[in-house]
Amino acid sequence: VRIFIPRDAAALALGAESVVEAISGEIAARALDATIVRNGSRGMHWLEPLVEIETADGRVAYGPVKAGDVASLFDAGLTSGGAHPLCLGKTEEIPFLKRQTRLTFARCGVIDPLSLDDYRAHGGLRGLERAVVMQPAAIVAEVTESGLRGRGGAGFPTGIKWKTVLETPGARKYIVCNADEGDSGTFADRMIMEGDPFVLIEGMAIAGIATGATKGYIYTRSEYPHAIAVMSAAVEIARAAGVLGTSVLGSAHAFDMEVRTGAGAYVCGEETSLLNSLEGKRGLVRAKPPLPAHKGLFDRPTVINNVISLASVPVILDKGAGYYRDFGMGRSRGTIPLQIAGNVRHGGLFETAFGLTLGEIVDEIGGGTASGRPVKAVQVGGPLGAYFPRALFDTPFDYEAFAARDGLIGHAGIVVFDDTADMLKQARFAMEFCAIESCGKCTPCRIGSIRGVEVADAIAAGIEPEKNRVLLADLCNTMKFGSLCALGGFTPYPVMSAMTHFPEDFSPVPMVEA
Ligand code: NAI
Ligand code: SF4
Repeated sequence: VRIFIPRDAAALALGAESVVEAISGEIAARALDATIVRNGSRGMHWLEPLVEIETADGRVAYGPVKAGDVASLFDAGLTSGGAHPLCLGKTEEIPFLKRQTRLTFARCGVIDPLSLDDYRAHGGLRGLERAVVMQPAAIVAEVTESGLRGRGGAGFPTGIKWKTVLETPGARKYIVCNADEGDSGTFADRMIMEGDPFVLIEGMAIAGIATGATKGYIYTRSEYPHAIAVMSAAVEIARAAGVLGTSVLGSAHAFDMEVRTGAGAYVCGEETSLLNSLEGKRGLVRAKPPLPAHKGLFDRPTVINNVISLASVPVILDKGAGYYRDFGMGRSRGTIPLQIAGNVRHGGLFETAFGLTLGEIVDEIGGGTASGRPVKAVQVGGPLGAYFPRALFDTPFDYEAFAARDGLIGHAGIVVFDDTADMLKQARFAMEFCAIESCGKCTPCRIGSIRGVEVADAIAAGIEPEKNRVLLADLCNTMKFGSLCALGGFTPYPVMSAMTHFPEDFSPVPMVEA
């Protein structure tokens, strides 16, 4: 029998390693014929460590399991899916999983992340097998047709980006995977790298063949040691198996890649700063144009895509553009891995077609706050995303619908706050975050953020609040339109949304003169 225990960082943080130790001990003591498989996470954080048993009837889940529960689990017949207070029934029937549409994350948590055979047995490499016999322009057309847009946050059509690189002449071209996942409350990139690394490798190889690039880099952060280890091992395995190298799957196409680690500056997730870091330089933002698609890594035409954009390509090539495009709404096609975090009962990864409302996501899927108090605000799109109040819970999860309400879906991180949150403090935090993470190249961001902290402090202290609120809005306007990149340019979103939707938090009782 196979027993699955995740090696995903979230499961490890919650004690998966001690559960493995306890389960190994019981297997030995009871002389059982059982193997432990270290899978990725299914993405249900409140149930981690989630232990699964393979039965003739499908997988049965138990969780959250602690080392101390293990002996009683074996007494209850764990290896045959026996009843126990921690038994959750069949994994696929858990409502949080059952309601999802898993295209990109179809294998995450299901397979052994480092088994290429397992990957193939679950539909892996079919997209690449198709791509190696297609014309590059036809691959680009298929991706364009699917409607896939950049999942890093900006939502630029992936096919159009690839077309620019395909049509730009260059002695060498590159595929750079932006795995510098820095948004608060996001973990989709990490989960794929730890739980299904071959899907990213396959997506990058397809991107290479489609654009004429022969070398790829995965740029990730030093805070992701587990993802780095799994990704690096997967690259070696793929190379040894002929998925990467001078002849991809026996074709005339060459493509190889390596994993590079940044030191963890938030701004290095900005594409031009990332390129500088990858070239061994300081992570300063470059002015655009030239676009990286024209002049990117080492001045060569370069595709820079987020992990999830690239990991969504294999299923598009395998099942066809129309299949992917049929999911979603408006101009937001396909699925999006929502990452539900913060003060929420059921946090985790929920892949679904675009179009669920924010209210459905927070109240129904997330189950409201973990504290049991009313939801006050939800920040969508990372630390530079807007705070939405309950009044905007009817907003569908869609790039344009969020933009129309002065928000952004970004990398689809959703952080929930209860009614104890102080939105003035959150606004101050946004300015402070920008001040710390600013690369320093342009004035509105470098100096504006520091002034922003001071103005927020003045409002909190009750010093000329009326005048300072106007000043804060004016400062936000300057940062929004005067900053070179999204760090300075988007910091106004959390600040302005907090001020607009929660004005009561910006009107503290004035200080009384002694
Ligand atoms: P952008 O709008 O400048 O560019 C989007 C992408 O399209 C870039 O890769 C750009 O090079 C490319 N592009 C634009 N025109 C093109 C053309 N004609 N041909 C080929 N490529 C073209 O946005 P930017 O500054 O790259 O990203 C901002 C976004 O990043 C924000 O929306 C934010 O949500 C997100 N973000 C994500 C984070 C994360 O951790 N994933 C962290 C911080 C921000
Ligand atoms: Fe650097 Fe901030 Fe300007 Fe971006 S907005 S280039 S992070 S100083």
